Amino acid sequence: MLPYASLTLLTLAATTTATCPRSTLQSATTALLAAQTAGNLSALPLSANTTYLENDASVTLTSSILTTALPIDLSRSLHDTTLCATFTEIISATAPHPYMIMTRMLLTADGAAISRIENVVADKGDWLFNAQASLSKAQSEVWDVVPEGKRDARDTIRAAGDKYLDSWADGKVSVPYGSPCARLEGGSYTTNCKMPEFPKQFKVLTVRRAKNRRYVIDEEIGAVDIFNDFPFLDANKPNGTSSTNFVRVEGGKIRYIHEVTICTQNNCGR
Ligand SMILES: *[C@@H]1O[C@H](CO)[C@@H](O)[C@H](O)[C@H]1NC(C)=O
Ligand SMILES: *[C@@H]1O[C@H](CO)[C@@H](O)[C@H](O)[C@H]1NC(C)=O
Ligand SMILES: *[C@@H]1O[C@H](CO)[C@@H](O)[C@H](O)[C@H]1NC(C)=O
Repeated sequence: MLPYASLTLLTLAATTTATCPRSTLQSATTALLAAQTAGNLSALPLSANTTYLENDASVTLTSSILTTALPIDLSRSLHDTTLCATFTEIISATAPHPYMIMTRMLLTADGAAISRIENVVADKGDWLFNAQASLSKAQSEVWDVVPEGKRDARDTIRAAGDKYLDSWADGKVSVPYGSPCARLEGGSYTTNCKMPEFPKQFKVLTVRRAKNRRYVIDEEIGAVDIFNDFPFLDANKPNGTSSTNFVRVEGGKIRYIHEVTICTQNNCGR
């Protein structure tokens, strides 16, 4: 058995490594927007060995989308002080080449440096892509800070997002959809958030459940983003294509969903 003092130190270490100051995470997302706007990496507090993935492929940062200067018409960020992670949604609709970019960044324990960036970068031909339509819909939505006392618990927010993803493979999963609820998928907007279950025969082809889920949760905004491998949609990637679902939860119920999904062929061949 460890002496009491060691246990205390272990507890402290676990606490400090698990929590990053919100202000430090905010500096990182501010830097991300500056870097993307300028197409210049120098604004980013990179670590010596930052891992970078673009649509799940390993890419060198110097040839990444981050080196393309883009006007940012809309951005929304989440700051996860528990996971030391950030999420940023970027819509660049007025660029000569429009993009929608969803960025997840992991930071070192003190939040000072970026250790990993996962970017889902969508453009023409990706699932229902329409940056201009997305921009106008996203601008009409309210993703304000939820007042203290009305905030959902971290687990509630995460569970709402997970149930939504689980329901694609299993229509019997009860998803806490709000009323109203709206989903923005690429540039397509619906106020009927319920997703039809994947075809049954898909089960025998491969897995049904969206896997490789990576989370960023922000209790102040009441939102979670789940990066995942979206199965079924793209015939070339039956085990899942790069996708991300940005979900706002209010009073335990889903209010908004933004999905961006990458296709290997025009509109995933559909
Ligand atoms: C990027 O920004 C740094 C700092 O402002 C500057 O020195 C550098 O020249 C810029 N690089 C490019 C390629 O513009
Ligand atoms: C990255 O560098 C840090 C500090 O230099 C080190 O602790 C960490 O293990 C390195 N990570 C990888 C994946 O090499
Ligand atoms: C999909 O996953 C299954 C099970 O892991 C594997 O056998 C199959 O090769 C994968 N298919 C593709 C196209 O990656």
